[in-house]
Amino acid sequence: MFSVRVERVVRHTKSITTIFFDSVIPSYPGQFLMVNVFGYEEIPLSLSSPNSITVKAVGETTNALVNINRGELLGIRGPFGKPFTPSNKALIIAGGIGIAPLKFLHDYLMERGAEVLVIFGARTSEELIWKDEFEDLLIATDDGSEGFKGNVVELMKAENIDLDGFERIYCCGPKPMLKGLYELFKAENVLDKAEFSLENYMRCGIGLCGSCVLENGLRVCVEGAVFRGSEIVL
Ligand SMILES: Cc1cc2nc3c(=O)[nH]c(=O)nc-3n(C[C@H](O)[C@H](O)[C@H](O)COP(=O)(O)OP(=O)(O)OC[C@H]3O[C@@H](n4cnc5c(N)ncnc54)[C@H](O)[C@@H]3O)c2cc1C
Ligand code: FES
Repeated sequence: MFSVRVERVVRHTKSITTIFFDSVIPSYPGQFLMVNVFGYEEIPLSLSSPNSITVKAVGETTNALVNINRGELLGIRGPFGKPFTPSNKALIIAGGIGIAPLKFLHDYLMERGAEVLVIFGARTSEELIWKDEFEDLLIATDDGSEGFKGNVVELMKAENIDLDGFERIYCCGPKPMLKGLYELFKAENVLDKAEFSLENYMRCGIGLCGSCVLENGLRVCVEGAVFRGSEIVL
């Protein structure tokens, strides 16, 4: 484990914060860190850039992180896990805080000249963080406060998105959203070019404890957290 100091904090909403470190972590989009706020449990968090994590408060540790201040120290292990596969024509589909690893991927692909369409779903417009930073963006909100009223799968059907037109499709978000996308991709026969970032409960992060194992025996922390659609069943 090593320590990083919090250099800057961006509070997007009351419950979502991006924490920038004082050092860059050599990493690729889709990789995650095991993060230790002193006095709390160590938890897995995706990198949202080479020097940041973006956290949504759902329990004790994430609450402590969301309220962290500049100058504080964090313990870090990693980066761990398999990253997303880069492509030139990309469809990114994010739900809620699932945008965190996909923001890193979006910026990485754009810097390399790729064409990137982002489909971003959230419960309400407040949770659409970074929405002004995506050039080509379709929005869905559950409450209809911005964009299409409904979920991302309904939006994709309504907009008749041609999945064959993309080299790769990248997804991260809540389980029901990933399941809906998985069913859609299966029906459209595009599971092999889809990549899903999974957020199973983790303890060790390095393949030893067994707490993140999928039904097919793959470990999310080592063989994932990014999986090809054809490798998994959702
Ligand atoms: C590879 C990976 C990358 C992740 N990246 C991010 C990220 O970039 N930003 C972010 O905010 N969160 C991310 N998560 C989820 C994050 O790790 C959990 O929200 C965190 O562990 C909860 O810790 P807690 O102590 O605050 O809450 P706890 O008290 O442990 O749990 C509070 C609630 O959250 C649920 N929960 C706990 N762990 C998870 C989990 N892994 N996935 C979904 N629900 C969970 C619990 O069931 C409970 O209902 C990621 C998880 C994984 C495995
Ligand atoms: S978290 Fe321990 S095996 Fe994956």
